[in-house]
Amino acid sequence: MISNKMQEAINAQINAEMWSAYLYLSMSMEAADNDMKGIAHWFRKQFNEEMEHAMKFVDYLHSQTARVELKAIDAVPTKWDGCPVKMFEQTLEHEKKVTSMIHNLYEMAVKEKDYATSIMLQWFVNEQVEEEANAQEILNTLKCIGKEKTAFFLYDKELGKR
Ligand code: FEO
Repeated sequence: MISNKMQEAINAQINAEMWSAYLYLSMSMEAADNDMKGIAHWFRKQFNEEMEHAMKFVDYLHSQTARVELKAIDAVPTKWDGCPVKMFEQTLEHEKKVTSMIHNLYEMAVKEKDYATSIMLQWFVNEQVEEEANAQEILNTLKCIGKEKTAFFLYDKELGKR
């Protein structure tokens, strides 16, 4: 059994994970519209990952006999001027925000002595380290490539292997 406060906070996190999924699907379509097939694929995979994150929380709430409340998902940005650096800058910034949301949930679970939720959240704490590192690494590489067309073509292919 988890507290009402925790139930509400996890429901808000489900909404945030789905918003993340929308964001990355939007980026995937922007990349596809601009002939960056590899990046489009990378963001589509990221969309799937975010939906998996949302479903982990859904399943957890259900297993705790708590109520899952699916709230409206806010609109996401749709334009990055076809610029992959802008997309990954926003990805990194967004993942940092998600990290702080996960940390807040973890802090709440610890304060409430909610051991089950703390343990469940440990997976997300680790996942966020990976999410930020991936976004940072891709951003660094894209900045390094700059306007070098051949290098970009090859890197886009590389990201398509995800
Ligand atoms: Fe669900 Fe990208 O964190």
